[in-house]
Amino acid sequence: MKLTSEATAARADSPHKKFRRRDAFPDLSRFLTTEQHRIHLVGVAGSGMSGLAGLLIELGHAVSGSDRVTTTETERLQRLGLRFHEQHLAEHADTADLVVFSSAIKDDNPILLTARSCGKPLFRRAEAVAAIMQAKRGIVIAGMHGKTTTSAMTAHVLREGGLHPSHYVGAEIPILGTNAYWNERGEYFVAEGDESDGTLRCFHPEHALILNIEEEHLDFYPDLAAIEKVFAQLIDQTSGSVLYNVDDPNTARLCGKRKRAVSYGFSEQADYRGADVELQNFGSSFFVFRRGEKLGQATLNVPGEHNVHNALGVIALASELSIPFDKITASLRKFEHARRRFEIKYASDRFLLVDDYAHHPTEIRATLRAAKSIGRRRLVTMFQPHRFSRTKALCREFGSAFDDADRVMITDVYPASEPPIPGITGRTIVDEIVRHAHHGVTYQPHLQSVHRDVGNMLEAGDLVLSLGAGNIHEQLEILAADLVIAEKLKAIVGEEGEVRLYEPLSNHTTLRVGGPAQFWVEPRTEQTFAELIRFCRDEHLPLFVIGRGSNLLVRDGGIRGVVVHPRGGDFEKIEVDGCEITGGAGVKLRQVAYAARAANLGGLEWMEGIPGTVGGGLRMNAGAMGAQTFENVTRVRYLDAEGNSHVKNRDELEVFYRRFPLLEKNFAVSATFCGQPAERAEIDTRLRESQEKRRTTQPVAKSAGCIFKNPATIPAGKLVDELGLKNSRVGNARVSRVHGNFIVNDGDATASEVLELIDEIKSVARQKRGIELETEVEIVGEPE
Ligand code: EPU
Repeated sequence: MKLTSEATAARADSPHKKFRRRDAFPDLSRFLTTEQHRIHLVGVAGSGMSGLAGLLIELGHAVSGSDRVTTTETERLQRLGLRFHEQHLAEHADTADLVVFSSAIKDDNPILLTARSCGKPLFRRAEAVAAIMQAKRGIVIAGMHGKTTTSAMTAHVLREGGLHPSHYVGAEIPILGTNAYWNERGEYFVAEGDESDGTLRCFHPEHALILNIEEEHLDFYPDLAAIEKVFAQLIDQTSGSVLYNVDDPNTARLCGKRKRAVSYGFSEQADYRGADVELQNFGSSFFVFRRGEKLGQATLNVPGEHNVHNALGVIALASELSIPFDKITASLRKFEHARRRFEIKYASDRFLLVDDYAHHPTEIRATLRAAKSIGRRRLVTMFQPHRFSRTKALCREFGSAFDDADRVMITDVYPASEPPIPGITGRTIVDEIVRHAHHGVTYQPHLQSVHRDVGNMLEAGDLVLSLGAGNIHEQLEILAADLVIAEKLKAIVGEEGEVRLYEPLSNHTTLRVGGPAQFWVEPRTEQTFAELIRFCRDEHLPLFVIGRGSNLLVRDGGIRGVVVHPRGGDFEKIEVDGCEITGGAGVKLRQVAYAARAANLGGLEWMEGIPGTVGGGLRMNAGAMGAQTFENVTRVRYLDAEGNSHVKNRDELEVFYRRFPLLEKNFAVSATFCGQPAERAEIDTRLRESQEKRRTTQPVAKSAGCIFKNPATIPAGKLVDELGLKNSRVGNARVSRVHGNFIVNDGDATASEVLELIDEIKSVARQKRGIELETEVEIVGEPE
């Protein structure tokens, strides 16, 4: 194998080309594999670059690397000796004997500029990998889809077959230990060849395995012919066998006529033929024939027909290397996926979360088909398009790639160092999917919100797939971590209780603003509420209780931890016993008022006008018509921070205007109110008065009730009115025209708009009247 010429290594017009000083390196292979030097890698965090760094360290070089980001890989490499820099500095070139750069690095990178100007040897990643391969018997796995899995499978089968291969694969491979490995003992070097930047031409392997060829990377290639040219060159440069997928027309056309070509696939004419494929949940089994002779059955523990194809290629290659068929099948059975290749992130009877790297329509179709065959109830997919150029070039194909998914969420494009293309966004794909008559597609331009949207739509029986080559897997990982907790919460509240992820609190507050609750839980019994309290304490999860959300302003970032909404069961029981009415924490105060009326008990009519629950009324010592909750309370039942229940009589309780300290750290279960026997007509009159007062003095629009506590000197509403602030607004949050102490939501107001308006009112009251207004609404949650 010889090192490729510079002219073919890079695009003819590449600006890198004219700066190369390669004359000093007639034998890069020897330099990298038998000597020891100082080598700097520019863009070392990339999946391919980190593998190369690992190889170079194992080969004994002093390796340094720079990247804008750190990853678990760079951290692992640092432990092995990589000197890592989080910035690209010109001086890194000065101290190195040789510099290697990733294709993602721009021409104006300071290290490249310095290396060029001082004549430092500068190589592309693939050139370095190809030169390392030159010291061994090289095997290159190439193709548009399935390379990483197939390279990993090949390395694994060769390793199990006793060949001690070295390997270089573009992702973390748990079963192989690392993404790259230099094995002194073995003769072979298995490498995943990257076709995306033309550097496939650098390789002169002994064997090549060609998986498939189609239009891709149109940011780099003008058309399919240009792609085929690169593959043709690789095939020409292969000294031994070319194993190729005969079922792929482009591959078959290119490889078929070559002399030492070995075909594989499902077609009758394949040298290595797969037949009678049975797809199972997470795997498959199939029979293999070699030129008509039955070799036996193989079993895979990775899903999908596309992986049967990949495995046939590996079987063909390994057989050509004389590994016995039973050894091959024994190792295939043990093979586990590479990271991000149908990687199961969470599995239970109710949910299955899987991440996959698929980003080309063909890959998406294959992955969705594999996912569908698992037979879960719904297939929910989140997809992050990768590169503007691919989104533009293949948008039609993307439109029909999601047919197997029940719900699809598309986020914005991961640029992968590309500048944006005007008019090309995630919406481009959404529009194509809609045009293709798929009705379950939504667009979420903010990647950070994807896990929330998907998490909130989850139903038991869902398989959730994250797809893309960018960073969408992080969203699935957040979802998986939260689902672990959500499932534990579900086990506590049981079938009758409800648990939801990322429930929008704007649906549970009367003001209709507020971000999501990380975990929304509706217990039905006092006992499950107590267990929830203990669980949150043990897991160090914050716990917040919400009733009707009528006196609550939740910030736009939502509430972290568990939000408990006691509802149904014990919490909505209402009992009348003589003059006493006991209501669960979830009972509405107006229900108490009407239960009292039904029992001819008076004194509770004012509760008719309060839009809260018993729990909320207690917590706030809510009031109206000059009355307040604790004037009527005789007993309170509550759970303490340990989940133990207590009952306290009114005389044991400390209560203030709009404040009841006991419930700041404890949780209401129920309250007993005391009424006085009264004539029905008298009760009705008072109920009417309350209704009338509400109707005439308070807005009907969405609000959180009174925003401020009444200062001692003047009612807050009157003050706001006198300050001339009625009808003033921030965005869609506006001071009511009807009552100055109400802020109303004119539609889609945000919490930050309401908060800004509150601050404005406070500041005017301070400046003009010297009054320090204090909010009555409880303000909770995280800013966005
Ligand atoms: N006023 C004005 N302009 C206004 C609003 C009020 O001049 O824009 C005057 C009224 O005319 C009245 C005085 O201010 O003379 C007090 O107003 P209101 O009678 O409406 O009572 P409030 O003190 O503003 C209280 C409770 C309300 C409850 C009503 C009705 C507080 C902070 N608010 O309001 O409770 O509904 O009484 O009984 O105590 C709540 O807690 O969320 C709430 C709305």
